[in-house]
Amino acid sequence: MKLFLIVSCLFGTIYAQHAGTNTPESAPQISIEKCSSGGSCQQESSLITLDSNWRWTHHVDDYVNCYTGNEWDQQFCPDVATCTAQCALDGVDQATWSGTYGIQVSGSELSLKFVTNGPFSKNVGSRVYLLESETKYKMFSLLNQEFTFDVDSSQLDCGLNGALYFVEMEQDGGLSKYPTNEAGAKFGTGYCDAQCPHDMKWINGEANVQDWVPSDNDENAGFGHFGSCCMEMDLWEANSKSQAYTAHACDVNEPTRCEGQDCGDNDSGDRYNGVCDKDGCDFASYRMGDTSFFGEGSSFKVDSSKPVTVVTQFITDNGSDNGDLVEIRRKYVQNGQVIENSKVNFDGVSDYDSITDDFCTDIKDLFGDVNDHQKKGGLKTMGEALKRGMVLVMSLWDDHEAFMLWLDSNYPEDGSGPGVERGPCPTSSGRPEDVESNQPEATVKFSNIRYGDIDSTY
Ligand SMILES: *[C@@H]1O[C@H](CO)[C@@H](O)[C@H](O)[C@H]1NC(C)=O
Repeated sequence: MKLFLIVSCLFGTIYAQHAGTNTPESAPQISIEKCSSGGSCQQESSLITLDSNWRWTHHVDDYVNCYTGNEWDQQFCPDVATCTAQCALDGVDQATWSGTYGIQVSGSELSLKFVTNGPFSKNVGSRVYLLESETKYKMFSLLNQEFTFDVDSSQLDCGLNGALYFVEMEQDGGLSKYPTNEAGAKFGTGYCDAQCPHDMKWINGEANVQDWVPSDNDENAGFGHFGSCCMEMDLWEANSKSQAYTAHACDVNEPTRCEGQDCGDNDSGDRYNGVCDKDGCDFASYRMGDTSFFGEGSSFKVDSSKPVTVVTQFITDNGSDNGDLVEIRRKYVQNGQVIENSKVNFDGVSDYDSITDDFCTDIKDLFGDVNDHQKKGGLKTMGEALKRGMVLVMSLWDDHEAFMLWLDSNYPEDGSGPGVERGPCPTSSGRPEDVESNQPEATVKFSNIRYGDIDSTY
């Protein structure tokens, strides 16, 4: 309590979710480009906002925490209604972006640093969204379009994931749909993804305080009764060792609060009974059998020790914005050279170099994976979300559940056969306590975001 009184004096930016009169939130500007065929690009100015989970949650009329570490305050949050009425989200001012959260924006570049020891707290990782205005997320409609960015993953070792992806959030973060949400996109509300995360402190404008269980291995996180589901298109999940891009379709076509079986929780054995395809259909070069495609040094086709341009194309069946999504293509550009994607390298499976429904079926068949992708409607369904519009997410995180082994090591740890090996990291790597103590300075940089007609951005 005293700590936050001091913080408030220092930064002077304290206000309530309910007040809405001050505007101390200082959203950093980032420039992106929209391109059209022929290759002409126009600058667009956008803003960055921080997800609500990272923000200070305090009593509405006071500087006292509603949530500390991984627990809700029992006095302010004895139940959902009381908690929702009494608690507020806070703004992030200029100094706090980097001083507390390790986030820096300059020109067209965003950089996320992993651990920041601020004056009063230790911050681990972050998740930010692109805004088109102070109160609205930018909606990207990428069907029959491409999306390109530069990324520097060179400082991310085993266990870290510097991610760029899209989720189908509400444009205003749920502000107009849920009367108790007075914060909205400006404060990074409304997050959802295909894992239907239970760790959201707020869903549908309500505190997720019911049945809240603090995590037993994450001092900042816990799990509430409800989860928050929606479709997700991962363009980039990577460190310097391994990378993947993945489509996650869902049976729901808007952000959806789940409970029980619909959340598809692993613990209850419901992974494939939920509304979203949690596995997704992933194209990961190493996992697909090309272990010399991506990695550190010039012996790899894509050298992760240097920045690389990543191009993703959403191809429709008839080359129109109204067609069905049939293929998600990938290209890289490095040292001025366009590098075509790696190919699947297993006997008995075609040498696919992109995500198509046939690729998903054949590779899951070979790997012995459940084809939840098909069950959730496959690429056509993913394409409908891309057409409606999705919100851009950039994050840096470590993995308290599976230690990122699914990205950069063997997973399942004791598995064997094709599909198990996903990267060169040891199965003992990725433990959050190790990652956080050994790689606190690890930073991912995303820059030169551009989007538009196919083949116009690189
Ligand atoms: C593409 O397919 C969609 C959906 O079937 C249809 O509405 C649209 O008219 C087609 N466009 C062209 C150029 O054929």
